[in-house]
This record gives sequence, C-alpha cells and structure tokens, in this order.
Amino acid sequence: MILLPARPQRVALTLLTVSLLPLAVGAQSDPEGIPVTHTAVVQNCVACHTQDSTGRMSRISYSRKTPEGWQNTIRRMVMLQNARLQPDVARDIVRYLADEHGLAPEEARPGMFEVERRMIDWEYEGDEDTQETCKVCHSLGRVILQRRTKDDWTSTIELHRGLYPVVEFQGFRRGGPSDEDDDDPRHPMDKAIAHLARAFPLETDEWRSWSATKRPARLAGMWAVSGSEMGKGPLYGTLTVQRGERDGDVTTALEYRYARDGNTVRRTGRATVYTGFQWRGRSFEGSDEATALREVMFVERDWQSMSGRWFRGDYDEIGLDVSLHRVRSDPVVLGVYPMAARTGQAHTVTVFGANLPQDIGADAIDLGPGVDVRRVTSRSPTAVTAQIQVAADAALGPRDVFIAGSNMERGLTVFDEVHRIAVEPRAGLARVGGIVFPKQLQQFQAVAFHNGPDEDPETDDDLRLGVVDVTWGLEEYTRTFDDNDIDYVGAIDRNGLFTPAADGPNPQRNQNRNNIGDVWVVATYAGDNAPATLRARAHLVVTVPLYLRWEPWKVTPR
Ligand code: HEC
Ligand code: HEC
Repeated sequence: MILLPARPQRVALTLLTVSLLPLAVGAQSDPEGIPVTHTAVVQNCVACHTQDSTGRMSRISYSRKTPEGWQNTIRRMVMLQNARLQPDVARDIVRYLADEHGLAPEEARPGMFEVERRMIDWEYEGDEDTQETCKVCHSLGRVILQRRTKDDWTSTIELHRGLYPVVEFQGFRRGGPSDEDDDDPRHPMDKAIAHLARAFPLETDEWRSWSATKRPARLAGMWAVSGSEMGKGPLYGTLTVQRGERDGDVTTALEYRYARDGNTVRRTGRATVYTGFQWRGRSFEGSDEATALREVMFVERDWQSMSGRWFRGDYDEIGLDVSLHRVRSDPVVLGVYPMAARTGQAHTVTVFGANLPQDIGADAIDLGPGVDVRRVTSRSPTAVTAQIQVAADAALGPRDVFIAGSNMERGLTVFDEVHRIAVEPRAGLARVGGIVFPKQLQQFQAVAFHNGPDEDPETDDDLRLGVVDVTWGLEEYTRTFDDNDIDYVGAIDRNGLFTPAADGPNPQRNQNRNNIGDVWVVATYAGDNAPATLRARAHLVVTVPLYLRWEPWKVTPR
C-alpha cells in the first residue's frame, strides 16, 4: 500500500448530500477553483473527489494543464486508484478538462518543447533552486506546463514522496538536511512549493482572458506546409483539413515533397484541437501503423498559421519541424530549392508554393539583381522549376524572391564558395537497444556555410547554404585508452543516420562490457563548390537505455 498524504476522502457521495459533508482535504475552503460541469467527470470521479455546492471538486478544480498533463492524471487514476473508465469516456474527460482546466496560449508556448518531445538543453530561468530540485527525474517542461493553487502544488509534491520515497534523498534533499551556511534554511521542497505557487498559480490574467474568448478552432480548408527533417532537408506541400465529427475534431489529407530527392509522401490523419489552439493528431501513409507520426502543433489565435513537430521513434527522436499557413486564392511562395546559388554559374531551381499560376513565365520570377531567370521548365500549382544564370559579379548574400505578385524574404542566397561545413546536431545522443529496450537513433546532417562579409567562420554574418551531400564516418574519441569504441557502438549510414548496437553485455568486448561509448561523427565534403575537401565533426555519445523513464510510456492524447 502506498502512502498518499493528499488522499481525498474515499466516501461514496451523491450530489445532493455533498454540501452536508465535511470538506475534502485542503480544497473547498479555498476561494479559487474551477467548477466542474461535465457529467462524466462528476459521475466517475465524485466517489473520491468531493464536489461542493458551487460545483468545485477536490483536486480536480485546482489545477490546469495540457492535454498530456490531463491524460497523465487520468492514467494514474485508472492504474493506481482503480478508477474504471471506458476508453471513449476517458478521452471525453481528458478533452473536457484540457478545454476547461487548460492553459492559455501564452502559458503553453514556453513549454512547447516538452509536448513536442524535443531533445534540447533548456534552462529554467525562474528559480535555480526549483530547477535543481525538480529536474532530477523529468524535464522542467512538465512543471511549467501546469498551474495549481499553493495547496495543490503541495499535494503534487507530496504525491512524489508517496510514490517514490527515495525522492526525498535523491531529488529533494540531495544528501542531507539543508546546508547550515545557506541563508535560506527551508527544505528544498518547501522552497519549490513557494516558488511554484507564485510563478504558476491557478488563476492568471492569461487564462481569464483566454477563457472569455476561446472556442473550437475552425481550421477547415487548405494549408500550405513547409518543413524540414534532419538529414532529409526541406519539404513542402499542402494539408487539407476537414471538420470531424465534433467541434475541435478534424480529419486531414497531406501531401508533401522533399526538395532534395523529390520523394513525395501522402498521409491521412485525424486530430483534435484542445483548448482552441493545441493540435494533437496522428497521421499515416495508407493505413500502415508503422508509418504513424504524432502531430503536436500550436494554432495561432488568428487561425491563419500553426507550427510544431511531427514525430515518431521509440524515444520520439525522429521528427519534422513544420509550419503551416492558410492558403486562400492568391499565390504563396514557401521556399526555393536549392536555397543557395553560386556566382558565375547556371542552376536549376524550384520554387515551392501554393496556387502558383499555370501560365507563369520567366519574367514573372524575380530573384533580384545579377540573377537572370532564363526559362521555366516545368510548372504545377505547388512547384515551378526554372533555369537561372547567376552573374559572376552578383552581390553575395540572401535576397528576396518575388513570383507572380507574392514574395519570400531571403528566399535565395548567392555565394561564391563553400568555406566550411558543419555537422548538426553538434552533440548527438543515441541509446543502445534492440534486445530488451528499444534503440534510440540519432540523425545527423551536414550544412554548408560561407563565411560572410567579415570572412570569419562561425560569426553572425555567415551565410547558411543548406544541407549538402557528404561522406559519413566514425572516428575514435579518445577518452579511455584502447577501448576501441568505434568497433562496438554502432554504425552510421550514408544518409547520416546513426543506429546504435545492441543493449546488454558484449562477450566480444574486453571485460564483457556493453556497447556504449563515445565517438566522433565525421562528415567529408568533396563537392565542386569548395576549393578543397572540407571536413567537420560532431560528438556522439552512445549510452545505455533509459531504464527508468519517470514518465508514462507513450502518452498521446488522440
Ligand atoms: C478511487 C478513488 C479515485 C477516483 C475514482 C478518482 N481519483 Fe483522482 N485521485 C485519487 C487519489 C487518491 C489522489 C491523490 C493521489 C494522486 O494524485 O495520485 C487523486 C488525485 C487526483 C488529482 C490531483 C493530482 C493531479 O495529477 O493533478 C486529480 C486532478 C484527479 N485525481 C482527477 C481525477 C479525475 C478527473 C477522476 C475521474 C475520472 C478521478 N481523479 C478519479 C483518487 C481517485
Ligand atoms: C524522483 C523523480 C522525480 C523528481 C525529483 C520530481 N519528479 Fe515530478 N514526477 C515524477 C514522476 C515519475 C511523475 C509521473 C507520475 C505519474 O503520473 O505516474 C511526475 C509527475 C510530475 C507532475 C505531473 C503530475 C500530474 O499528474 O499532473 C508534476 C507537475 C511534477 N512531477 C512536478 C515536479 C516538481 C515541481 C518537482 C520538483 C519539486 C518534481 N516533479 C520532481 C518524478 C519526479
């Protein structure tokens, strides 16, 4: 039996008798709280969460969070508290709570990286002590995407102690009572509660004003998609959105093309837009489950654009960054590929967009002084391909692109030489797996740069010239003598995708060690645009599986 200090009274109640019963733990005496008006929530939760005469229910009325946050709570109610819910009722409850006890756009935006499952280094600037106390097991993203009363923050942290008693030492106290020299002798947990209650309270102006205006987003129609995928480069296409069965539900049909290899992808999907702006969807190629991509996007309040990440992978590590704009009848330019053209040379470039006119000629495409558009060689509403000639003395740098009355700022960059390449990301992380745990892959890409007007590498004026084809390899990162990591950690393929080796001890390796280690990932560019062969490298750590995730496996509303 787990000790739960904040346990609500487990009394079966009917609505009529509610107000006659003693108040539930620390809640109803509070002047704040969001009344619950959804029958399924009341029916399924009131046995443990009492409801007062104003409709507020203990615990439930005192926090606000993302759809993922609510899903996590409901999942815990089902798994640990034996709440019995049919899946469709559970979904309905998550939707109601995410809509009515949700976050305002301004509150959700800073934590998008968490729900988009981005693997980034992120610093919480609000309070260093809270960050140190709370980042031990999970990202601070989980914390900043919640709003609670002080009592409810207290109960949440007490829940941690109840579920994971070791947290007291490992996370909250870090090896003993607070430092006597410390001028603030409070327990780290109390410090965190005080900070969180101030920084992330239940009632905020943002939520008040969003509650007054929020409504189901009407997103039906055609959207232009532009995105990029690590290793594969830019992609462009369209998303057709149709209204689903309920307000806030949509079905989607998507088509996009990778500019580099011309591969076209068609997907269909569904999504729910929670709280008027939080898109959570899933799409497939055909009906193949293996192609599923989860979609997490932020819909801007004018319903004209949305952006986010579509991803997959056992650690959500493979993904596309996307941004979508509503298409009306006028032409839209989304991007030019290649994004950079060398002086003194002829090139074939494709302008991607939507509603591109079908009678377009070379004179309707303006790439700026020194870039002569010779002729259009193919056209469709979403892509126009043209032959261009860049003058030997054309000015270097990015230029705006105009096509049939629509434009894109800095759409094409003119350069004379590739000065360096860089491997992205600069530091990668993979996890061995495949036997007991899944593998975490790491995709790399190589990007070409020109040093810019100051002629110095890695300064703000450098010109980014886009993803280039390189030869990939691994080299030993010398940390431990003779450990020969490159023989064990795994392999990188010709597209820059690193796949780690198997988890578990390796009898082939000295001392029966496992396959972890760190290596350099090296890219070699021998393209015509550089005077000599260029090399760049990134550090790759291949580590153990995440044995303990401190998070529910695969939380996905939708
Ligand atoms: C059988 C009893 C029981 C039922 C039924 C139950 N809960 Fe809970 N609930 C608890 C207990 C015990 C806690 C405190 C421990 C915890 O947080 O897991 C709790 C905590 C909570 C919290 C506060 C923690 C958090 O994650 O924010 C919320 C919100 C919540 N429940 C919502 C619900 C909802 C919504 C339902 C109905 C779908 C529900 N509960 C049904 C027993 C129950
Ligand atoms: C020992 C590891 C650990 C530490 C340290 C930790 N957490 Fe957690 N936290 C968890 C786990 C595990 C869950 C998921 C619980 C579940 O739902 O099963 C969680 C869930 C949460 C949730 C979501 C609860 C819900 O259901 O709505 C919040 C909010 C949270 N933690 C805040 C904090 C704060 C604030 C701190 C620092 C004071 C902190 N955590 C420190 C392990 C930890």
